[in-house]
Amino acid sequence: VPEATAPEARASALGGGLWLVARRYLRPAGRAAAGLMRGKTVIVTGANSGLGRATAAELLRREARVILACRDRGRAEQAAAELRREQELERARAQAPPAAEGGPAGELVVKELDLASLRSVRAFCQEVLQEEPRLDVLINNAGVFQCPYMKTEDGFEMQFGVNHLGHFLLTNLLLDRLKDSAPSRIVVVSSKLYKYGEINFEDLNSELNYNKSFCYSQSKLANILFTRELARRLEGTNVTVNVLHPGIARTNLGRHINIPLLVKPLFNLVSWAFFKSPSEGAQTSIYLASSAEVEGVSGKYFGDCKEEDLLPKAMDDSVARKLWDISEVMVGMLK
Ligand SMILES: NC(=O)c1ccc[n+]([C@@H]2O[C@H](COP(=O)([O-])OP(=O)(O)OC[C@H]3O[C@@H](n4cnc5c(N)ncnc54)[C@H](OP(=O)(O)O)[C@@H]3O)[C@@H](O)[C@H]2O)c1
Ligand SMILES: *[C@@H]1O[C@H](CO)[C@@H](O)[C@H](O)[C@H]1NC(C)=O
Ligand SMILES: *[C@@H]1O[C@H](CO)[C@@H](O)[C@H](O)[C@H]1NC(C)=O
Repeated sequence: VPEATAPEARASALGGGLWLVARRYLRPAGRAAAGLMRGKTVIVTGANSGLGRATAAELLRREARVILACRDRGRAEQAAAELRREQELERARAQAPPAAEGGPAGELVVKELDLASLRSVRAFCQEVLQEEPRLDVLINNAGVFQCPYMKTEDGFEMQFGVNHLGHFLLTNLLLDRLKDSAPSRIVVVSSKLYKYGEINFEDLNSELNYNKSFCYSQSKLANILFTRELARRLEGTNVTVNVLHPGIARTNLGRHINIPLLVKPLFNLVSWAFFKSPSEGAQTSIYLASSAEVEGVSGKYFGDCKEEDLLPKAMDDSVARKLWDISEVMVGMLK
């Protein structure tokens, strides 16, 4: 919201006379890419908040049909209403032609998806496969960070269950539609914190011992191993899959972290000064979803819209394969 209102505030301060001149310079930067995603359908998981919301906003600006895949319909409808309003304001300010003149412009569609429930994942995919003739981009963005020990509906540790297993099933159930819509893309949002994880095959649900930081890192390492194994399986299909770390961004991800009341102002100051805005944090997701520069690129790890190196543990193909096999069993794909 601040980005959207700042130009207006500045312009009114300049006074009506300068408004016409100022408008040229204050035109939102994203307009150059408008229409880039026209005719494309994109799914963003966790699109009601933080990076997912900012990713959806930009893809809407680029005129995609964006499916907001969220666990809470109310929160998702609210985000969709806000995004549509922001978009209208922006179009009006940029004097963009009404959507109808340029053919079908972007649109937002809300669909329920709770990644902590395999039943919900299956229902979501069934609906998508019935209603969407094509699927061009899937963005696995939703995530839980360092929650207290909790289990998903199917008995998985929450962070591994949502961040990895839920997305694992989701992606596999949508794969044929992505292949039929090729060239198409899958984008996976991981984190640099993968560095502190291992895949603990002995106790994937952390029933013996729960360390919330370790489990987050394990789930984010799983995102990378999943991406690399999937890229291998997708060779020759024109469906690409890449993984990214967004950097540190001001979102609701820290909801389970208790910051003492007295430290809160300091934390807010630091995050305001040093953390990325959600929109800045979303840039690599947007890039991998829509840029022509990464056409045909697959199985790679990105940060700040550039390819980055991985630690050896994230490139261990035998661990990736073992994780894939066990994930198939856990989500019941082999039944
Ligand atoms: N922010 C950062 O600094 C940072 C750094 C590295 C990586 N990341 C990654 O970026 C991604 C986006 O996080 P964010 O920072 O934007 O955090 P956020 O604002 O908390 O957004 C997370 C989204 O995931 C959704 N979600 C959580 N559990 C879900 C479930 N069971 N089913 C469906 N959706 C669920 C949330 O829905 P509700 O709103 O309904 O809870 C929310 O929409 C995550 O994968 C995170 O690991 C973020
Ligand atoms: C929990 O895991 C983190 C990251 O893997 C590690 O640095 C930390 O020492 C662990 N804490 C305990 C109490 O084992
Ligand atoms: C992939 O794309 C190339 C270039 O557009 C095309 O020639 C090829 O037939 C496609 N392959 C598949 C499997 O769709």
